[in-house]
This record gives sequence, structure tokens and C-alpha cells, in this order.
Amino acid sequence: MAEEFPAIASPLHLGPEGRGATLKNRIVFSPTTFGLPHDAYVRRIAGIARGGCAMVVIGDVPVRRHERASLFSRKGAAEYRDLVEAIHAGGALAAAQLHESDSDFKALIPYVPGVLMKKISMMELRHILNEKAKELVTNMPARKVRAITQAFGPAAVRARELGFDVMQIHGDRMVGSFSSALMSGRDDEYGGSPERRARFAVEAVRAVREAVPEMVIDYKLAVRQENPRYGQAGVLLEELPVFVPLLEEAGVSSFSVALANHGSLEDTIPPRKHPFFGEEGCFLRYADEVRKLTKLPVSGVGSLGTPAFVEEQIASGRIDFALMSRQLLADPEWPNKVLGGHADEARRCVRCNKDCLGGMQRHEGTHCIFDKKSGAAD
Ligand SMILES: Cc1cc2nc3c(=O)[nH]c(=O)nc-3n(C[C@H](O)[C@H](O)[C@H](O)COP(=O)(O)O)c2cc1C
Repeated sequence: MAEEFPAIASPLHLGPEGRGATLKNRIVFSPTTFGLPHDAYVRRIAGIARGGCAMVVIGDVPVRRHERASLFSRKGAAEYRDLVEAIHAGGALAAAQLHESDSDFKALIPYVPGVLMKKISMMELRHILNEKAKELVTNMPARKVRAITQAFGPAAVRARELGFDVMQIHGDRMVGSFSSALMSGRDDEYGGSPERRARFAVEAVRAVREAVPEMVIDYKLAVRQENPRYGQAGVLLEELPVFVPLLEEAGVSSFSVALANHGSLEDTIPPRKHPFFGEEGCFLRYADEVRKLTKLPVSGVGSLGTPAFVEEQIASGRIDFALMSRQLLADPEWPNKVLGGHADEARRCVRCNKDCLGGMQRHEGTHCIFDKKSGAAD
């Protein structure tokens, strides 16, 4: 019964009293790109929402109009509406992960023949893409930068119109690249010192706060570390004391803390045998640092899924809610089972990455080796 896991079962209010949003329990589906045809994607998301989690974060919702799956195009809007309806029908809140990509795909065109002739591996291509992202971020005129940060406001308004309950700002991708001294070589008001590197993120948060003053803004805080180096974009651990107060002041309501990207995807989505992030709760060490700097709710992610372990992290106050991606792909019913007295029946993700990350990398869409068992196969 829920009494077995009272911390997971307890609701959590985000944002100020009387406004904001209430999570019905402490389990949130972490943003996950599926790369599936729309109907199959909606079925997946519907199943995850029905499985009992409190909120589903829809990953990588572009803030600008020209993007594929734009909030502003008729097709994009209809698709987001379908997703939101499916989430609400399942009894969960819907969050939009507002993001701006820093992938300069045009700059990759000269490398396409090399990839087709197998002279350039996908790993090398990823490296090239990261190098191009550095150039893009370093050389972008300040006027264009400001236009992008300001685009977060109208995107939030549009996402609210489409039914989203919560905004998440994706602090990785372009936001993360501007935050990072490894990715940004700028020396203007958007680069150089940590304060100036925080400016892109702060402007984006402010734009959303001004556009939708009543809404919860969760900030996906992408953290990187040295010795050993993990993560390229995002905020260095030592820089958190600069970033966290600035983001809080700009209007963030909660922080979701994860490892920064632009390195290997196997680091941000670590398999069981990862040399550094092999253990359950592998990124909570970063959430611990954020926790010291704010009184706002802080969530964590990283191979979470053992009911007793998750309960302990929440009950001890280490995190306020738990984000799960692969665990809810492996068993969307995890929250219902754990809170309904059947924790022993919850199927544990084995972190093989074969069909989730693997499926995405093979351009087959995100799946799970357990799909047949959970009836989620498409
Ligand atoms: C297939 C796949 C796609 C993902 N897509 C996104 C995304 O669009 N945005 C994002 O911020 N994180 C994305 N992630 C990262 C997850 O949100 C999560 O942080 C990561 O998988 C670690 O959590 P887990 O151990 O519970 O899977 C993705 C993860 C997977 C497996």
C-alpha cells in the first residue's frame, strides 16, 4: 500500500500557495525524445501517464517558429494538444521542456559523403557537431542571442494555450552551451565570467516568468564536472553558487538537476556498467550541491527505480521529487504498482540501453527490451 512508501505517495506543491501546480506524488517522467510516428508517440505517453506518475515532461519542445514540431504551426500545435490530452486523461500534469537547439546541421553537410562512405563514424560526427555548436555559440551576434532568449516568452504562452500545466526550461543544448566555458568562447555580455555566461539562461527564465507569471518554471540544471571531466555544456559544479541564485531571482520555481550533455550520450544516459555513473541515483551528487544553495524544490535523476531507494532519497529530504526516464519505459505502471501495494511486481529497468538509447541512435525510435511484456510494443 501507499503506506509502505509514504514519501513517494505524498503530494508536492510547486510554486507559490494558491498558484502553481501540485504533483499528486513524487514521480515524474523525465523528458524523453521518442522519434516515433505521432500516433505511436501519443500511445506511449498515454501509457506512461496512466501508469500513475504525477507529471510527464515532453522533451525538446522548440521555442522558435521555424523549427519542426513548432508550437506555432498548425500541425505542431495539434500534436502537442494530443499529447497534453493523453497526459491529462491519464491523470498526470503535462510539462513542456522549452528548448533551443545548438546543432548546426547545415554546417554538417560537407561531412555527409564521409558518413555515407563510412569514413566518418557516428561518434566522429557527434564530435564535429559539438565543435560546430561551439562556433555557433561563440560567433552569434548579440542581437540574435537576445532574439532567441526572448522567444522563450511567447513559446511559454503558446504552450499554456495548448494545455501545458508547467514549463521546464531546458538548461542544456543552447542554454547549456552559453553557460559553459568549454562551449562558449565569447567575451561580450553573454560570455567570459560565470555571471555573464549565466545571462542567456537568466534572460530565458525572465522571459518565461514575465509571459506566464502564474506558472511553475522548472529549470533543468545541467551540471558538469572536472577530474574526471564529464559533461561539456552546462554549469561547472564550482559555478553553481553563481548560477543558482541568479536563476532563482529570475523566477525559477524548482530545479531538476542532471549531468550536462555534449559529451557521450552514454554518460547522460548511463548503462549499468558505466565506469563512473554505474550506481542508482548516479546524478544525485549534483542535486546535493544545488540543495545547499536554494530552498526551492530540487529533483534528481539517474538510474532511479528501486522503490525503497527512491523512497529513502525523498524521505531523507535529499530530493523533493524523482525523475525517471528508462524506468518508466521499462514499466510505465511502476508508480501504480509501488503505491498500490505491488512493489514486488514492478519490473526493474536493467539499464542495458539496447532499445531506448540504442533505438534512438539507430533511428528506429525509443523502445524498451520489455515492450512486449508491458504491451507497449509498436
Ligand atoms: C531515449 C532517451 C531520450 C531522451 N531525451 C531527452 C530529452 O529530449 N531531453 C532531456 O532533457 N533529456 C532526455 N533524456 C535524458 C533523460 O531525461 C534522463 O535524464 C536520463 O535518461 C537519465 O535518467 P534515467 O536513468 O531515469 O533514464 C533522454 C533519455 C533517453 C533514454
